[in-house]
Amino acid sequence: MASKSVFFVLVTVLLAYYIYKPLPDNVEEKFKVMLLDATFRTLGHAGYLAELLGVTHYMDVMMLLTKVEHTEPISDENVTVTDTSFSNVPVRLYVPKRQSEGPRRAVIYIHGGGWCLGSAAMKPYDLLSRKTAHQLSAVVVSINYRLAPKFHFPTQFDDVYAVVRFFLQKSILDKYSVDPNRIAVSGDSAGGNLAAAITQTLFHDPEVKVKLRIQALIYPVLQTLDLYTPSYRENGNMPLLSRTLMVRFWSEYFTTDQKLFKAMLSNRYIPSQEAHLFKFVNWSTLLPNSLKNNHVYHKPEYGDSSFVKKYPGILDIKSSPLLQEDENLKGLPLTYVLTCMYDVLRDDGFMYASRLRQAGVQVVHHHYDSTFHGILLLNTLPFDFAIAHHISDKYLMWLDSNL
Ligand SMILES: *[C@@H]1O[C@H](CO)[C@@H](O)[C@H](O)[C@H]1NC(C)=O
Ligand SMILES: *[C@@H]1O[C@H](CO)[C@@H](O)[C@H](O)[C@H]1NC(C)=O
Repeated sequence: MASKSVFFVLVTVLLAYYIYKPLPDNVEEKFKVMLLDATFRTLGHAGYLAELLGVTHYMDVMMLLTKVEHTEPISDENVTVTDTSFSNVPVRLYVPKRQSEGPRRAVIYIHGGGWCLGSAAMKPYDLLSRKTAHQLSAVVVSINYRLAPKFHFPTQFDDVYAVVRFFLQKSILDKYSVDPNRIAVSGDSAGGNLAAAITQTLFHDPEVKVKLRIQALIYPVLQTLDLYTPSYRENGNMPLLSRTLMVRFWSEYFTTDQKLFKAMLSNRYIPSQEAHLFKFVNWSTLLPNSLKNNHVYHKPEYGDSSFVKKYPGILDIKSSPLLQEDENLKGLPLTYVLTCMYDVLRDDGFMYASRLRQAGVQVVHHHYDSTFHGILLLNTLPFDFAIAHHISDKYLMWLDSNL
């Protein structure tokens, strides 16, 4: 009896120790956040172990979450949902059932997951797309691009770009009665990265006549040059996206060779020949003072040139839209940027907002100071957070009045 209760106490203490995580004071629903984080961490540990033992790739284990959250394309009373493909790339399409007086608006959505994980069919994305279609009476095209580690850059970009170009053809817009002047591209995290890259590329593509009205970048990842900005330093262990995981995503985007991962972790792998690019990610000029927060800006530390020679994608603006020249940012469409305080990617979003504004682009920036990366996905049980609904409602309201 006594030994049983000692055992029980021990397990409880260990479990509490594992689940407990110090969180900033203003984070809401702390216990639920800790449970969520512990669940996600456990999956990460399992992935790490499986990889160490040579059983499978780390991302194959992480992918379980995407599979568990899979939903079939089921239409409801308001929206017709179908899986189809555009230009040979699978997409999930949401068409409102309600009659529309004129042509409809459209939102092209790109899911997140570090170019390695996620799917348009995941419950949280499916729910967000339904809501978008219904509330905006808009056609939503949610893209299932191919993922790393099986496919590397630029496959993800190319898949998304192929869908966008296909959809923007006059005959296709007509088929879905979409107004060519009211189309947005939107994405979160790595999807925000792709959305930003697509928006830049499309703007300079002479073959595409239809231009986007809006780009919406939800806690986007925008640059590989400095993986040690103040937000990376402060939030490296915050829920859902640790610095290590973000760096792993970045390296997997280009290669499965872990040498790149290790070099990226050190933040010292860009050669001095590329010194001129660092001005585009100079947080000492691009961040508001409140976020510099006593961090001291040092000039970049350079590495040898082997990595960017082997993986030129690292310095490609299609992977790091923040490295785009000022001149080429001019004229980009109205931009919505969403950032969260406790997110390694916070400063990427802030820096891009600054650079776009300096280039004369109209930017609307919603910054949430009590939450963390990935919050928009936490809209379904068992991890359903009030703030996730608040944030997505604000985003949809903004989209509704500006698209
Ligand atoms: C359909 O739309 C109505 C009116 O907005 C709403 O009350 C209802 O919950 C929606 N149904 C679904 C399945 O979302
Ligand atoms: C970054 O900006 C600071 C000024 O705030 C400047 O002294 C420094 O040289 C800049 N560094 C780069 C790499 O642009």
